[in-house]
Amino acid sequence: MIGERTDKFYSLYEKERKKVEIRLKNSLANRKPYSLYKPAAYIIEEGGKRLRPLLVLLAAKAVGGKFTGAYNASVAVELLHNFTLVHDDIMDNAGKRRGKPTVHVKYDTNTAILAGDSLLSVAYEFLLKDCNGNTKEIVAAFTRGLVEVCEGQSLDKDFETQKKVSLDEYIIMIEKKTAAMAEMCCKIGAMLGKGTTKEINALAKFGKNIGIAFQIHDDLLDITGNENDFGKFVGGDLVEGKKTYLFIKALEKAKGADRKKLLKVVEDKGIKPKQIPEYKNIYIRLNVLRDAQDEIKNYTNKALGSLKILKRREDKEIFTWLADSLIKRNK
Ligand code: IPE
Ligand code: IPE
Ligand code: MG
Ligand code: MG
Ligand code: MG
Repeated sequence: MIGERTDKFYSLYEKERKKVEIRLKNSLANRKPYSLYKPAAYIIEEGGKRLRPLLVLLAAKAVGGKFTGAYNASVAVELLHNFTLVHDDIMDNAGKRRGKPTVHVKYDTNTAILAGDSLLSVAYEFLLKDCNGNTKEIVAAFTRGLVEVCEGQSLDKDFETQKKVSLDEYIIMIEKKTAAMAEMCCKIGAMLGKGTTKEINALAKFGKNIGIAFQIHDDLLDITGNENDFGKFVGGDLVEGKKTYLFIKALEKAKGADRKKLLKVVEDKGIKPKQIPEYKNIYIRLNVLRDAQDEIKNYTNKALGSLKILKRREDKEIFTWLADSLIKRNK
């Protein structure tokens, strides 16, 4: 879920989320073979925030379009997102997502690879349903987003064994693996709503900066999160030796024994689960959790700066609510 029940825009989010939920379920229903679509449906089951569909819908509306013209595209981006999650969990050796065993753990790796592929394919089927007159631009933007995710995920893997990774390199990596997708969602939403080039670009920029903030926040929750809320194993990034915002910033600041311990993570390509509290304490000592929060705020404010172009106050308000809710999220 995004936001609090008492929020002004919560009921709108919930109403639209439920509509997307039904369409998502139907997107994989009555397809055979079950060996392919059952594991695909398993990852799609409720539990995700459905942020990306929301971005598509809000962007379409913000430029004067209607939600009804973007539901299939919103299903498409969520299917695409879930495809990336299934494959990401294989690559990250992750055992838990949305509070449940990951697809490759519940079934097996081959099943998960193919289930991911099917989600990607069905995503295109749904995207094409909403394309109307501007099919080429929309499919191109969607495909671009996907290409960027692959490049970003590859950098993420490369960085696991790369001894030195700068914050600039990190930002490029998350721009690709996470922000490109949020950017694409806003872009295709604005395209489906028939926005002007200026509107499309402004919303794409909003998506990109929100996406950067989102990934830094995900890195933060990976260490500060409560497993029941977060739905993933806490500390997994350290175990896998990921070059997260926290890790890079900590290595930048650390001296003496702390620095030695951080360098050991690089050398050993990760830590043991029982060492997680020890490393969390290093992060706390070096105040990098606070640095991450500041960076999340910076990118969120940058995102909000792109909204000036929107004509209606209500549209600005809802995007501001969304940005604010994401800053406060615990999952
Ligand atoms: C997880 O995405 C992958 C990242 C880009 C950090 P979400 O945090 O949006 O996951 P769900 O869809 O809500 O489960
Ligand atoms: C984002 O990175 C993953 C994708 C682009 C799919 P993470 O690997 O940090 O995402 P989580 O934490 O597993 O959801
Ligand atoms: Mg992961
Ligand atoms: Mg990953
Ligand atoms: Mg993560």
